[in-house]
Amino acid sequence: MPVGKERYYYKAVRRASAAVNSGLELKAVLATIVRGTARAMNAGASLVLLDATKKKLIHSASWGLPQSYLRKGIMDADRSLTEVPTGQPVAILDVAQDSRVQYPDLARKAGIVSMLGVPLTIGATVAGSMRVYTRQTVEFSNQDINFVTAMANLAAVAINNDALRQQKTPAEPGGDLSEAGTAPLRQARSASFAHPSEEEFAQILDFYNIEWAYEPQSFPLAWEGERVTEMFTPDFYLPGLELYVELTTMKQSLVTEKNHKLRCLRELYPEINITLLYKKDFDRLLAKFGYGPLAQERGQGVGEILHSSAEIQRRVREMAKKLSKDYANRRPVMIGVLRGVFCFMADLIRQMTIPLDVDFMAISYYGGEDSTIVKITKDIDINVDGRLVILVEDIVDTGFTLNFVINHLKAKGVAELVVCTLLDKRTRRIIDIPLDYVGFKVPDEFVIGYGLDYREEYRNLPFISLLSKPSPLKIRRGKR
Ligand code: IMP
Ligand code: MG
Repeated sequence: MPVGKERYYYKAVRRASAAVNSGLELKAVLATIVRGTARAMNAGASLVLLDATKKKLIHSASWGLPQSYLRKGIMDADRSLTEVPTGQPVAILDVAQDSRVQYPDLARKAGIVSMLGVPLTIGATVAGSMRVYTRQTVEFSNQDINFVTAMANLAAVAINNDALRQQKTPAEPGGDLSEAGTAPLRQARSASFAHPSEEEFAQILDFYNIEWAYEPQSFPLAWEGERVTEMFTPDFYLPGLELYVELTTMKQSLVTEKNHKLRCLRELYPEINITLLYKKDFDRLLAKFGYGPLAQERGQGVGEILHSSAEIQRRVREMAKKLSKDYANRRPVMIGVLRGVFCFMADLIRQMTIPLDVDFMAISYYGGEDSTIVKITKDIDINVDGRLVILVEDIVDTGFTLNFVINHLKAKGVAELVVCTLLDKRTRRIIDIPLDYVGFKVPDEFVIGYGLDYREEYRNLPFISLLSKPSPLKIRRGKR
């Protein structure tokens, strides 16, 4: 029978392995493992996992640590303890004296003196770390390190099981671990959203294959002494884009306060990228996909003309001339995203004076028959490996389509990719991808013509116009 602290280690491993075997939700299993680690070592503990960029660490489960410490900035894997990039355990005797601690002041304020970080590996790849924090100076022994390694391994098994259960690619040595590594983040989607619009937004992100985490991080905004008095928790973090998104779909009276918090956040954390979506933006996003409160309000017919046929031809000629000059002797592959782009593409290439290839691709839209994941309904046929690609778009709105198409093409080994769009609806951008060539900026309104449709109509208009506003005369049906 083990004696001393071995007894506690033994008990913790037994409980943790039972949890892994229990079929419980991943979040609960990880919580048990972390709590067991903390209690057995009479310390705080936390499980940190690499996000999809593999550069940042996010606290995924923790026990016995003050909120003020957990709610610090997302950690950089190569600046925080360094057990993740090196794959070796790191023991720190005094957090105040060690350069491997990224937030020494916060750690000290939280009463932390010594720290131990043990890499969490799935197969042969490091996916994160199990960390232990003590209030006294502790020289961690081999036995301590072995115990935490065993607990980290159990967490890795739980994460891998969960990935398998969700029928994701199992983690293989040397394989891509982004699925398994972010499993606890994905798990967040079973957690209840504060508002239905957030769930809807998560579905849209899923559709466009954008990795997300729901409220993974809070940012302290104000302090009274050491106590945090004001905090801001953005709704979503998109690790692949290093972007936070805040949905402000609630009452107008609360919007002012949100705006204030956002200003503070931007001042205090200037390195953070955050996009704010107001209720109006969100409703327009839904209307774009054909539903939501604004979807029925659209009028029919041609509204104000924004760009005449002659004006379009002039601008397209200018763009073609510039492209021909910039990519002479490069033989670009011009790739258009159907269907809206066909008029622009046809006119653009006929004004270009350099050798080029042309291809098209098409993707399904959210709100269509199957809205779970975007489908490539027509892929390109030309081999673009090592080629210069000019991606040609009719209009860039939220940037979801462009982001998806760029990722798809990059995976095919494109050497260089530039984006050329006829229209730019800037004010609606969620994913801010640089646009290299822009024909016209358009206002935040639905536009039609010159290839662009509204419910498949109006593509054949030679000009670009607004969709007409609904008639102010509404016919109301009273009760009979
Ligand atoms: P995004 O993914 O939100 O950037 O949207 C891009 C696609 O939505 C475009 O390729 C168009 O097919 C469509 N789209 C966006 N705004 C408009 C518009 O005002 N009129 C017609 N189609 C639009
Ligand atoms: Mg398009």
